[in-house]
Amino acid sequence: ENIQILEIRSELGAGTRGASLGIGAMKVASLKMNDTYFAHYPLHLVPNENEILFRPSSTTRHAKHIKGILKVYNYVADAMEQLLTEGTQFLTILSGDHSSAGASIAGLRKSYPDKRLGVIWVDAHADLHTPYTTPSGNVHGMPLAASLGFDNLDMRQNNLSPELNVYWEQLKRVGEISPKIYPEDLVFIGLRDTEKEENFLIDQHKIKVFEVAEVQEKGALRIAEESLHYLQNCDIIYVSFDVDSMDCELVSEGTGTPVPNGLTPEEARQLLCRFAQEDRLKCMEVTEVNPLLDNKRNLMAETAFSILRSVTDTVEKRLRSQATD
Ligand code: ARG
Ligand code: MN
Ligand code: MN
Ligand code: MN
Repeated sequence: ENIQILEIRSELGAGTRGASLGIGAMKVASLKMNDTYFAHYPLHLVPNENEILFRPSSTTRHAKHIKGILKVYNYVADAMEQLLTEGTQFLTILSGDHSSAGASIAGLRKSYPDKRLGVIWVDAHADLHTPYTTPSGNVHGMPLAASLGFDNLDMRQNNLSPELNVYWEQLKRVGEISPKIYPEDLVFIGLRDTEKEENFLIDQHKIKVFEVAEVQEKGALRIAEESLHYLQNCDIIYVSFDVDSMDCELVSEGTGTPVPNGLTPEEARQLLCRFAQEDRLKCMEVTEVNPLLDNKRNLMAETAFSILRSVTDTVEKRLRSQATD
């Protein structure tokens, strides 16, 4: 099969419970739209460690549940290596919270160790915190720092227990490669809720950022083109779509950390569909839908699913035209 789906129901990285239900909410949305998406593409379920939420919590306060998250990272990286080396041409990842993106990047690097990986991060947040700087202890704010191998000790706020220090080092090393990506191979789109420790890293490493205003001025298509051009030296590309990149007043609050003044759903669709046309795009992740927080019934999941449907149609078309070339 050319297109496969990986379902990661972990929600250990989020601060508010319910993100593990986000994928189910997208499945319900597909039924409401009479769409056969989930019958059509092979779906692979990765084990999760959400049961630890029912047990008394351990002491890793600056990276909550990192022990379970580390296990999930290894499940995901192994599953991806298997699927991608078997010849899957495009992998869709549906995940509960965004901490899993560190695992997705690990899986891609493990599967393509000799390729240079570019990352397009569509999100209100930079997710560049480390256990040394996190304001919340929520690991969904850290996957990019883990992938880049950052500690950000210049901006240190927290002292880590020796135990947490070991887990953080292990998280960075999943897939045996660290760092997995380089700051010059990363593009942010839609950032608008970052902390000073993240801004420090963005400035220090001159990481490329397209703000919402620039998407509005130039149009989503042009921003997509510029992003792909910026990553021209990368061999393969991974796109991470955190649904909170979209404006929570235009869509809904059905996500763990909603932020206003974001992308419109149409801007998000245009961006992602342009990326989907790119031969180098190997994997796209949709994450952070939390139906328990949705003030407009299931609108966030419906919006996310509708965009996912458009993206998948675009990928299908590309793969079909390649097959006939
Ligand atoms: N920067 C904040 C934190 O570290 C929010 C992170 C939100 N991340 C996300 N993937 N929704 O807690
Ligand atoms: Mn995020
Ligand atoms: Mn976010
Ligand atoms: Mn904030």
